[in-house]
Amino acid sequence: MSELSVVILAADSEQRAVMQVLVDGTSVARAAHTAATYPASATDPLIARLHAVKPEVILVDIPVDSPSGALHAIEVLRQELPDVALFAIGSMSQPQVIVSGMRAGAREFIERPTTTSDLLEAFVRLSTTQRKVKREGPRGKVFTVINAKGGSGATTIAVNLALALQSAHGNVALVDLAPLGHASLHLNLKAPFTVTDAIRNLHRMDTSLLESFTARHANGLQLLAGAVTPAGNDAAATEYARLFDLMAGHFRYVVVDASSRLDAATRLVGNLSETVLLVAHADVASLWSASRVVQFLGENSGRERVKLVLNRFRKIPGFHESDAETANQYFAVSAAIDRGVPLMSQSHTEIARAFHGLAAALTRNDDDVKRSAWSLFKTV
Ligand SMILES: Nc1ncnc2c1ncn2[C@@H]1O[C@H](COP(=O)(O)OP(=O)(O)O)[C@@H](O)[C@H]1O
Ligand SMILES: [Mg+2]
Repeated sequence: MSELSVVILAADSEQRAVMQVLVDGTSVARAAHTAATYPASATDPLIARLHAVKPEVILVDIPVDSPSGALHAIEVLRQELPDVALFAIGSMSQPQVIVSGMRAGAREFIERPTTTSDLLEAFVRLSTTQRKVKREGPRGKVFTVINAKGGSGATTIAVNLALALQSAHGNVALVDLAPLGHASLHLNLKAPFTVTDAIRNLHRMDTSLLESFTARHANGLQLLAGAVTPAGNDAAATEYARLFDLMAGHFRYVVVDASSRLDAATRLVGNLSETVLLVAHADVASLWSASRVVQFLGENSGRERVKLVLNRFRKIPGFHESDAETANQYFAVSAAIDRGVPLMSQSHTEIARAFHGLAAALTRNDDDVKRSAWSLFKTV
């Protein structure tokens, strides 16, 4: 690995000095320039200086009490120096800042206080992905399915949507993030590894290891299975960011079953998703919960991504669906789960057609429109 040229932007002078020592300490990179200001626009003199320095990485320190200038700088740098990898340095206690930094174009979010080994790992990842990206095409899209209340049908929809996407496009993964994973039961798959194993092995994760952690359904869909015990998950949200970043680099579509899970990981993955399908029933309690979940998912940015899916609505004044049809569908869906033969594998059903329709609607523009897939790696 040839030595990386790094620029450090940090308003705080002590932090600037510390970062310089840490970067040089990695012995794979060298601090070529430091600055105490954050570029506010393309005409900022700092931008011209950075063009002259030609760094490969810019570390942007995000102050805890006033993150906005640094976050805006990441956007400006992303525009003006699109080939440079941007690493944000900040506090893990501010999930919204992490997400904003990633969305602005930071490739990595590194925790403060930072260590030489944190930086070294990030630099190594950078050179590995740079090599990998050359081989790979555009990045995949993430669709997350979450429910307003347990039992609304999130898992059923995630499983069948993933199968529909796989049969239409191929190269699809289903990731089971539910508090207790049911997806492997729906698909009748024995999964020797789970999401937790993938997170534990992130430090050595590459596409072949990722592949080996998944179980493959007969239609080609690859499942990264969920938790088999309801033990609390202590992985940090940023670890999920890294896992999904890898997955989006490898799969064309990644479907996530979050079911009833409401924590920092769900919020982060929701924010990284192209679309979040929020599954609810048409009753008051369900719709009330749905509105709380929407609030939880994103104070500001997430809202337009979230789409409400009214599943299996019972006969309620104002809704016109025959009782018979609802009963039939219920029978088909529950029998499918009992037998471990998902609806999508029984292609003649009405519901299977509905899932094909959903898959088509979610991917409508993907083939002919420039893909706007989520990517932490805005620089690729
Ligand atoms: N469209 C539907 N029609 C009939 N039954 C459904 C439908 N969607 C889900 N179900 C049933 O509802 C139950 C709960 O669904 P599940 O997907 O596990 O929900 P969640 O993941 O939101 O908790 C399942 O037993 C399934 O049989
Ligand atoms: Mg579920």
